[in-house]
Amino acid sequence: MSGETKKRVLSGIQPSGNLTIGNYLGALQQWVAEQDTFECYFCIVDLHALTVPQDPAALRAKTREVAAIYLAAGIDPEKSAVFVQSHVSAHTELSWILTCLTPIGWLYRMTQFKDKSSKQQQESIGAGLLNYPILMAADILLYQASAVPVGDDQRQHLEFTRDIAQRFNHTYGETFTLPEAMIPREGARIMGLDNPLAKMSKSEASEYHAVYLLDPPDIARKKIMRSQTDSGRDVRFSSDPERAGVNNLLTIYQALTGEPKEAIEARFEGKGYGDLKKAVAEQVNDRLSPLQARYNRLMHENGYLDEILAQGAERARAVADKTLAEVRDRVGFVAPYR
Ligand code: TYM
Repeated sequence: MSGETKKRVLSGIQPSGNLTIGNYLGALQQWVAEQDTFECYFCIVDLHALTVPQDPAALRAKTREVAAIYLAAGIDPEKSAVFVQSHVSAHTELSWILTCLTPIGWLYRMTQFKDKSSKQQQESIGAGLLNYPILMAADILLYQASAVPVGDDQRQHLEFTRDIAQRFNHTYGETFTLPEAMIPREGARIMGLDNPLAKMSKSEASEYHAVYLLDPPDIARKKIMRSQTDSGRDVRFSSDPERAGVNNLLTIYQALTGEPKEAIEARFEGKGYGDLKKAVAEQVNDRLSPLQARYNRLMHENGYLDEILAQGAERARAVADKTLAEVRDRVGFVAPYR
């Protein structure tokens, strides 16, 4: 298939906190798998990370860390553009134009805003947190992406993106492709190891909540061995909230191995939770060890990462600037004289 005819994919991860196996199974694993089918754009969304307070030095270091993790996980920069969101100024510009078209009620209705803002004092909630979905819509629409590989928690943001794209198209004429969320069948919502009723998150402080992609094998193993289960014994998939811990471990196992549920249940027939935990830890470490080895090599190759990010931004700009020029024209801006 030639590059011209491939449909486009765009996705991104915030460089805030440590990336978890949730980010890997919900997002990165799919990205790697889709690289040959789609023309892919993967960004590190540093502008989004600013919606909550960030230490500047930490943000800079995290941005590079996340870029290196993309590559270490198997994103091939020859195939896919890997770039930093703030390197492509079209994202903020389109975001403003879409902001002016967004009814404020749409923003107040977003569950992520409701969750995040309920945990803060009214005065300390940045307007960025409210406007967050508009910037995400701009990320996607600039590339005319038809598919957006994300975890289950991003579903509502994708619906918002479609709504705002439709509103723009309706107001100014067909401009944007309407994107579809591409949610993995398994691993779209990995739960916390310490609390299987809450989504695993990179911004959760407690020590046994998540396996991080850069956790040493003994730490990853310890976290999994200590994960919360129940007083039962059957190692079976289940939608019973009481059994959410075991279900979560089985889901991680399934998302990593790609084995059907029945085969996994048969494998653990007559075995206990301890055996399941050991097997999950082994699968996780088998996947993380080569990723970490590549990550360490990349971080030691001076200049390589910067070069990849510069090339990625150049490829991204070529597409984003074209869409933005059309948008500027549609809304009635005077084209710059030179
Ligand atoms: P972020 O940084 O919170 O998460 C990055 C990706 O990881 C997925 N994910 C999970 N998947 C399964 N189980 C979990 N426990 C889990 N936790 C996170 C997320 O669904 C996501 O795919 N708003 C986005 C970043 C973003 C973006 C975009 C994504 C900004 N612009 C444009 C796609 C396209 C976010 O905060 O993801």
